[in-house]
Amino acid sequence: MIELSTKLEQLRDIARAIEQDNVTTELKAGATQLVFGEGNEDAEIVFIGEAPGKHEDLTGKPFVGAAGRFLDEMLSSIDLNRSDIYITNIVKYRPPNNRDPLPAEKQAFLPYLESQLEVIQPKLIVTLGRHSLNCFLPELQIGDCHGQLMTYRNRALLPLFHPAAALYNGGKRQILLQDFAKIPAILEKIN
Ligand code: URA
Repeated sequence: MIELSTKLEQLRDIARAIEQDNVTTELKAGATQLVFGEGNEDAEIVFIGEAPGKHEDLTGKPFVGAAGRFLDEMLSSIDLNRSDIYITNIVKYRPPNNRDPLPAEKQAFLPYLESQLEVIQPKLIVTLGRHSLNCFLPELQIGDCHGQLMTYRNRALLPLFHPAAALYNGGKRQILLQDFAKIPAILEKIN
């Protein structure tokens, strides 16, 4: 009898493939470890950030620094926590000195990110910041479309500002909080 692998096993296989395929050899060489993503593999929402920073590189977990704490606060404001969602980044190794990920690096990780989404099958993708949004919908400007529901390959996609960009910018912070507060109604509408 053919044993179907669980979602967790399939996600582990994708993580293993990234390492075996030597995706972004240079980033890998400079990083402590792969930051693949974590959370509930049955989640209705997948949050997608840009790339790991220092704390994420050291712990192997996404969004564990200041931006992650802000994200946790926003999740809790809509009665969610990390165990309700799945969270990952486009680029899964820390870029040196936290520089922006290069187009080729984002491109290299995209098929693996797509596979992650295929396994999890979320109802809603929430992109955090312009790098994440433009991986899926390159023609859009985050400043114009944040907080508006979009579609990517038949899946709902909500572009949000990156929590790190909003952390110390009062105006952006307010907008991000307002956009974030739309998530429950959006989910309800999708369901
Ligand atoms: N910023 C990101 O985009 N991702 C992380 O994991 C941490 C900070």
